[in-house]
Amino acid sequence: MPAKKRVENIKKLLREHSQSYLLTFWEQLDTAQRQNLLAQIEQLDFAKIDYWVANFVKESACAAISPDIVAAWSYGPVPANAEQERRYAKAGKLGRKLISTGKVAAFVVAGGQATRLEFDGPKGDFPISPVKNKTLFQIFAESITAVSQKYRAICPWYVMTSPLNHAPTIEIFRSNHYYGLDEKDVFIFQQGTLPNFSFDGKILLADKANIASSPDGHGGSLKALYESGALDDMKRRGVEFLSYFQVDNPLVNIFDPLFIGLHALDKAEMSSRAVIKTGPYEKVGNFCLIDGRLTVIEYSDLPDELAEKRNPDGSLVFELGSIAIHIISTSFVEKLNAKGFSLPLHRAVKKIPYIDQKGNSVEPDRPNGVKLESFVFDALPLASKSIILQTLRDQEFAPTKNITGVDSVETTRQMMVARAAGWLESAGVSIPKKPDGSVDCLIEIAPGFALEKDDIKEKLNQIPKIKPGDRIYLG
Ligand code: UTP
Repeated sequence: MPAKKRVENIKKLLREHSQSYLLTFWEQLDTAQRQNLLAQIEQLDFAKIDYWVANFVKESACAAISPDIVAAWSYGPVPANAEQERRYAKAGKLGRKLISTGKVAAFVVAGGQATRLEFDGPKGDFPISPVKNKTLFQIFAESITAVSQKYRAICPWYVMTSPLNHAPTIEIFRSNHYYGLDEKDVFIFQQGTLPNFSFDGKILLADKANIASSPDGHGGSLKALYESGALDDMKRRGVEFLSYFQVDNPLVNIFDPLFIGLHALDKAEMSSRAVIKTGPYEKVGNFCLIDGRLTVIEYSDLPDELAEKRNPDGSLVFELGSIAIHIISTSFVEKLNAKGFSLPLHRAVKKIPYIDQKGNSVEPDRPNGVKLESFVFDALPLASKSIILQTLRDQEFAPTKNITGVDSVETTRQMMVARAAGWLESAGVSIPKKPDGSVDCLIEIAPGFALEKDDIKEKLNQIPKIKPGDRIYLG
């Protein structure tokens, strides 16, 4: 198409969809900038954008929750009866077989912006371990290495980044020599983005020639796995199950034979780990069955009367909280993409830097617009079968979201120390305690030393006597 015609078409399209602001600085752009901006605009689906503006940007669409909502069922952290005990044993055996035959891969979503942590760089590079200050990426890499050695198998690692942190992430892996992993078993790929909007529905410009955009949420992973070629890579390798986790949880047990095995035994397509919520309003998603389908309802969307509803024994009816750990069958990802799917969008009101009509760069000090994101758990209702396995919070969930306070660097480190101390104590090692019962030393257990509690027993002769105030690293 002749260049002039192309520009005319785009101008018309923008007028029709009330987005002409995007070409405000057109006359000031050089040829390369113009091409770049046109290409970005042509990527946008304006029919969808009109819908998003009407339903999510200008107002916050809060979908009514169906009255047919009940609590979801889950497998407990330990078997409830003899029959379940047999099932857990069978699942564990199957899980171990699947890992050792290379059918399971690790999948971390690391495309987020880590705004709360205010960390300059990809969150995976955040130093978190209590004694050695190892980064999140290093801890995961060491777990993967330890699992590969234990099962004598290749355990590939898929790492999702976003355009905002892809290049630095690649650089971090490169400069750390892929943390000892074989580079060809680490597949780093990018998720998509969505444009950012002002409250009145205009797409914002980041600068005169670029649309302001942000990663499309962890739900974008299901499309990105397909579009990036990651799924093809899995098929080539024979990977059938993805162990999905978030980059900010160093306690995650990436290759848990029981979880993998139960998922496979039950022929589930996407399964989840859950913890018992600390209270009705804990800020985690709630597992529910809505119209018979497993669904996660965000804490902010669960009506108070449901959040507070209790069973006769006093426990919460909606007690299962989501901790963003899933097993996802690769066939499920393939099926979704083959037939086309879309996940609902969620609205987040944020401070979004932009360029105003006069061409000034604005760094807002209060929220000035809307970012849209999809969430991976919204794929659960699309799965034909899904299981939930409870886990114990202190064993597997220590999210590093904030600098201080709840779910912070501080609490994560404390939980890492507490779990390590608990593992040692269960093997008979004596741990110094403060009067309030908390651990009075720093302990870090490297994944290569122990992947789980039971691994400690074989290493008792390598564990020194621990005194109050000690810094102990077991690696
Ligand atoms: P969070 O919702 O905690 O977001 O992401 P975040 O970006 O890390 O932190 P804040 O909210 O800006 O402070 C949970 C997980 O999902 C990933 C994150 O990297 C993290 O592992 N994520 C989030 C993505 O991979 N892509 C996204 O678009 C959003």
